Amino acid sequence: MRSKENLNHFESIFGKTNIKPRLFEAPARINIIGEHVDYLGGTVLPAAINFAVQVYLRPNHSEYYQFHSITYNETLTIKRPFQPNQKSPWTDYITGVIVEIEKLGFKVPGFELLVDGDIPQGSGLSSSAALEVVTGFAISETFNLGLKKESIAVIGQKAENNFVGTKCGIMDQFIIAVGKQNDCISLNTETLDYSYHHFELGNYEFYLINSNVKHNLKDSAYNKRRLECESALQKIQTKYPNHKQLYDVTVSIQELTECGLTPDEIKRTIHVTSERERTKKVIQGLETNQFPQVGEALFETHDSLSKNFEVSCDETDFIVSELKKLGVMGARMIGGGFGGCVLVLDKKEHYDKINEEMKKSYQQKFNLALDFYKFQISDGVKEISI
Ligand code: GLA
Repeated sequence: MRSKENLNHFESIFGKTNIKPRLFEAPARINIIGEHVDYLGGTVLPAAINFAVQVYLRPNHSEYYQFHSITYNETLTIKRPFQPNQKSPWTDYITGVIVEIEKLGFKVPGFELLVDGDIPQGSGLSSSAALEVVTGFAISETFNLGLKKESIAVIGQKAENNFVGTKCGIMDQFIIAVGKQNDCISLNTETLDYSYHHFELGNYEFYLINSNVKHNLKDSAYNKRRLECESALQKIQTKYPNHKQLYDVTVSIQELTECGLTPDEIKRTIHVTSERERTKKVIQGLETNQFPQVGEALFETHDSLSKNFEVSCDETDFIVSELKKLGVMGARMIGGGFGGCVLVLDKKEHYDKINEEMKKSYQQKFNLALDFYKFQISDGVKEISI
């Protein structure tokens, strides 16, 4: 990224002082399996990847904050009382983090911040969580707050839930905070216990295809899905009070109907509980190099996200079904849905052919370009020495 250039930008916008701004970076993420279960106590298998958001941060010994975005070419001064900014919503991810840190009893002193990034926005790779986590980490390091990475993840999620207004789960912020090069994690989103997993793909590889349908989770049905799941659990609990999380529900469809779930709530529950089995299958498949088994589970998850959870769209459905016809090992939409990226697992040698054929057929069908991304699994949030 343009780190050197951005330091010059920083100093031309905010002036030079005797304090040097520090540079911090947070990655994007993929999720191999465990989709739409991270706000329901489920297990997820995400990894950090080498797209990033970078911020320069410098204390300004004042009561106010100044943010500059390279992407939007905009500078704003933020003062108390903190309010969401409808005109420049990119600032909410930063301000929301200050608000949540202060709720913990800290006072965040004034600072200047410049942000830049190359995570494609609205593509399901978590550019917003990366901005929250890098902001939390930069504040903690600069002002010696001593916040652990796991706590910074929770702060980021709360900023998104309370200030931005997307009722997201914990997965994105968590992996962006604790990610490790070459490893994914399995995270229990109820207890926040997690472990690192290393796997060798041999002749296979994961890559991403961006549908270039941009989503905005705040304005999508994302929050509605969460409410539907909460309502389903409440109804189940009237008959089965020992079920604490929708993810752990084991009752039959007949019993769900008897609990008074609506047809939509039944479909949501089927997705969430069947994802539990697919996640086991993927972890086992990766550990034992049984990639066809992993690929099959990815296709099944896509199907369930599309038909039961209803968070896919024509474009991502088309991509996955065409990939299947072309014989790839597995593929599915990732992240919140309603557009964004598809994760593909396939033999390395197929890549060029798939790339060519898919771009052609997608352009023909939707008059839209497809972008292919190869990536590396990388570290979580960190400081970059300059
Ligand atoms: C978005 C949210 C996550 C998670 C995924 C779906 O990325 O930010 O918390 O719910 O969607 O798995």
